[in-house]
Amino acid sequence: MKITISMIHILLTFLISSCSLSGTKSNNVKGDSTIDSSKILVVYLSRTNNTKAIAEIINNIVDGKLVALELEKPYPENYQATVQQVVNENETGYLPQLKTKIDSIEKYDVVFVGFPTWDMKMPPPVKSFLHQYNLTGKTVIPFNTNAGYGVGNGFQTIAELCPNSKILEGFEIKGGVERDGIKLAIKDEKAKEAETKVRKWLQKIKVVE
Ligand SMILES: Cc1cc2nc3c(=O)[nH]c(=O)nc-3n(C[C@H](O)[C@H](O)[C@H](O)COP(=O)(O)O)c2cc1C
Repeated sequence: MKITISMIHILLTFLISSCSLSGTKSNNVKGDSTIDSSKILVVYLSRTNNTKAIAEIINNIVDGKLVALELEKPYPENYQATVQQVVNENETGYLPQLKTKIDSIEKYDVVFVGFPTWDMKMPPPVKSFLHQYNLTGKTVIPFNTNAGYGVGNGFQTIAELCPNSKILEGFEIKGGVERDGIKLAIKDEKAKEAETKVRKWLQKIKVVE
């Protein structure tokens, strides 16, 4: 059979298109993550909804499973009483009991872990989560909101409590200042700015294109 130039062209076109289908691109229906969305978990702790706002922005992009950490015994409504309780818990290493149960953690390859800074540290309930669930072999991606003083040692604690995980660069942003009565700050224009920053970060760490 005589092979013509047009036959070679058809063959090459076919090979190129089948390569891109079998590449690392996701099979997401929604979102533009490079990872299969059914393997992404977004877990977060939030008291005044700033970290929740970031978790939702992330999850709108990656289209994974969004889970809020809730406690058997919630912290007091009162801010100062909560600060005092957290300081005591940090001193004693107390890990509060979680009410939230995560179904089949083994099915996730990528776990985003979001938390506010409390006492310049990771809040005790997030430590409870990392103690309770085994993230060995998974990619862990931390994110944080704070009152403007930064994440403290929260990202180091992620590394300490997930020694067998691949940890990607975390994201931190200023949220509320409950001490001064400012609860949810990541809303309206601030939420739009946050979305731009989150998307840039996700591109930098190659979770989205
Ligand atoms: C108990 C407690 C302790 C906090 N400690 C700090 C802190 O040490 N540094 C800081 O920048 N913000 C601190 N904050 C403020 C929160 O990190 C900030 O308001 C954050 O955006 C709250 O997130 P959330 O709305 O998801 O709960 C503290 C808040 C609480 C309730």
